Amino acid sequence: MNTNQTKVFIKTYGCQMNKLDSELSVGALVKEGYTFTEDEGAADVILLNTCSVRNKAEHKVYSQLGSLRDQKEKNPGLILGVLGCMAQNDGEKIFRRMPHVNLVCGTRMFSKLPELLGKINGTNKRILAIDEDGEVTFDRLITQRPNRYKAFVSVMRGCDNYCSYCIVPYVRGREFSRPVEDVINEVKDLADDGCKEVTLLGQNVNSYGKGLNGDTTLATLLRKLDPIEGIERIRFVTSHPGDMTRDILEAVGELPKVCENLHMPAQSGSDRVLERMRRQYTSEYYRGLVEMARSLVPDITIASDFIVGFPGEAEDDFEDTVSLMKDVRYQNCFIFKYSPRTGTAATELKDDVPEETKKRRNQILLDLQSEINKERNREVVGKSVEVLVEGTSKTDECRLTGRTRQNQIVVFSLPETCPPERLSRAGGSASLLGKLTNIDIVDSTDLTLFGVINEF
Ligand code: SAH
Ligand code: SF4
Ligand code: F3S
Repeated sequence: MNTNQTKVFIKTYGCQMNKLDSELSVGALVKEGYTFTEDEGAADVILLNTCSVRNKAEHKVYSQLGSLRDQKEKNPGLILGVLGCMAQNDGEKIFRRMPHVNLVCGTRMFSKLPELLGKINGTNKRILAIDEDGEVTFDRLITQRPNRYKAFVSVMRGCDNYCSYCIVPYVRGREFSRPVEDVINEVKDLADDGCKEVTLLGQNVNSYGKGLNGDTTLATLLRKLDPIEGIERIRFVTSHPGDMTRDILEAVGELPKVCENLHMPAQSGSDRVLERMRRQYTSEYYRGLVEMARSLVPDITIASDFIVGFPGEAEDDFEDTVSLMKDVRYQNCFIFKYSPRTGTAATELKDDVPEETKKRRNQILLDLQSEINKERNREVVGKSVEVLVEGTSKTDECRLTGRTRQNQIVVFSLPETCPPERLSRAGGSASLLGKLTNIDIVDSTDLTLFGVINEF
């Protein structure tokens, strides 16, 4: 295959693990000589990296595949591939529903992607590659990442928790932790390439170490990564409350580079619901963890996910969730309406909360969290915060963006609407990219803090 002229377009659905898988795949294809395009219409290969977590996520992919039918008819040489979780889950069914698809490549076959595309090219073959025993690889092309200054690093794969509503363990397989040395080497390579912030990724990142030799845990890993020169910030997502330990929280409190932010989904505030979700903790236990986190790391912010309308969720169960949200005052919450997933344990329970009720509860939580966000962000106005400058605003070069250690988004401008002489003397606003900078916060909304740089 003459890959030099082959243009690949990739679209990613779902979570951060999927985004990282797309990055790794792009890297592997670039190594083989493929080029990338942002223009779907000009592509020779179109890849959709998919998600199965809710019905809506799958629906989006099928409708996208449907709308690609015309392009395939006009250009029969076009290779159309479905990758990732929905590929793993639906397999052959994708070919039946969408006969113009050439490749269905599951979550454990990403490393075979160049080979699979090579086999299809020029033949219009269809290949199904969803081998459950396929190898899981963590290989990456270090230079291939969407932002120069920050990167995701996969430290574990899969999930063994089997929460009753969740498809992830079925599509991603058993939990598997990556050896410490491999993680350290990757983070060092990223630092050498100018990366300042790493986010360690795992569906259940705080159970890292299970199955590895010795007493390796996420806490010991953080302690080994913290001294790596060049790295300024370390984050990790997503933490399961059942696997949270004092050791991890102490590491967050003590280590200078580990950011004071936890994504620790509660899913519900009702013990009855939590039990049926098989989450392995009570609301009281969860509240205790939040308290421990805040006493060990005073300025920590906490984010959560919630599911509304889980089977049997009564009004008072929902009220318990509202109370939990009010009491914890999260930094951010993702709220989802329960969506039954074939093959999961929760499908044995009747999906008995009417859609209208799910919608209403969803909206109540969204509104509540938006109020909390507004209040919390208003509390930052008048203060100075440390921001890692990640990029410039597309419409205005004088406005830059970044995040605080607590994961709040900050948009800021240079003082006095950016006099051009001053900008050019400093090498332009680009000279601030990748730097830790103090910003005075002057205004806020529910999602963003606005500020002015105070040291330019
Ligand atoms: N491993 C992570 C999250 C994985 S999926 C964790 O355990 O925290 C991301 C979120 O999707 C979950 O936290 C949950 O809130 C939501 N989710 C998962 N399955 C769902 C379903 N069947 N219906 C609605 N939301 C779901
Ligand atoms: Fe799904 Fe639960 Fe695993 Fe998260 S911990 S991926 S919600 S099974
Ligand atoms: Fe992520 Fe969706 Fe798969 S949430 S692990 S892309 S099912």
